[in-house]
Amino acid sequence: MKRALTPGTFDPITYGHLDIIKRATAIFDEVVVAVAESTPKNTLFTIEERTELVREATKCFENVRVENFDCLLVDFARQMDAHVLVKGLRAITDFEYEFQMNALNHQLDNYIETSFIMSPPKFMYLSSSIVRELASLNGDVSSLVPPCVEEALKRKFAKN
Ligand code: PNS
Repeated sequence: MKRALTPGTFDPITYGHLDIIKRATAIFDEVVVAVAESTPKNTLFTIEERTELVREATKCFENVRVENFDCLLVDFARQMDAHVLVKGLRAITDFEYEFQMNALNHQLDNYIETSFIMSPPKFMYLSSSIVRELASLNGDVSSLVPPCVEEALKRKFAKN
């Protein structure tokens, strides 16, 4: 079985992430969406909330499994018996960071390959941080995130 892992912070998951996940499901037998627990980023949603939203948003895909992890990505990929990491590439701005991560992960474990899927033009500008900022200012995010995420953002900013 060819299993891929799509890692990320998913704070929150967007239609851009879902596009990459969907395209990965057409290439691999199983796609494990790996939600990073510890991240240098200060997240808006807790690990439980981020994982639950990814589960809800990907429930239509039969060959997607959602897990969270709190270790090196390459170690988690080995645990999951996945030797391909699938990542989305948006604009040139992503390239330098992904280039560095690819080199680092390759050095840590050269059994793990990273494969990139280019985001389509309509999602090139889309990021979780843009979604968070827009939602915090009461902007309409319905074309950027699935309904469950839109609701979660409303609840989060109503509380804050
Ligand atoms: O969605 P993001 O924030 O771009 O995802 C980044 C992520 C989670 C893929 C990256 O931070 C990661 O791989 N974290 C796991 C810890 C790790 O292996 N870091 C690289 C070596 S220090």
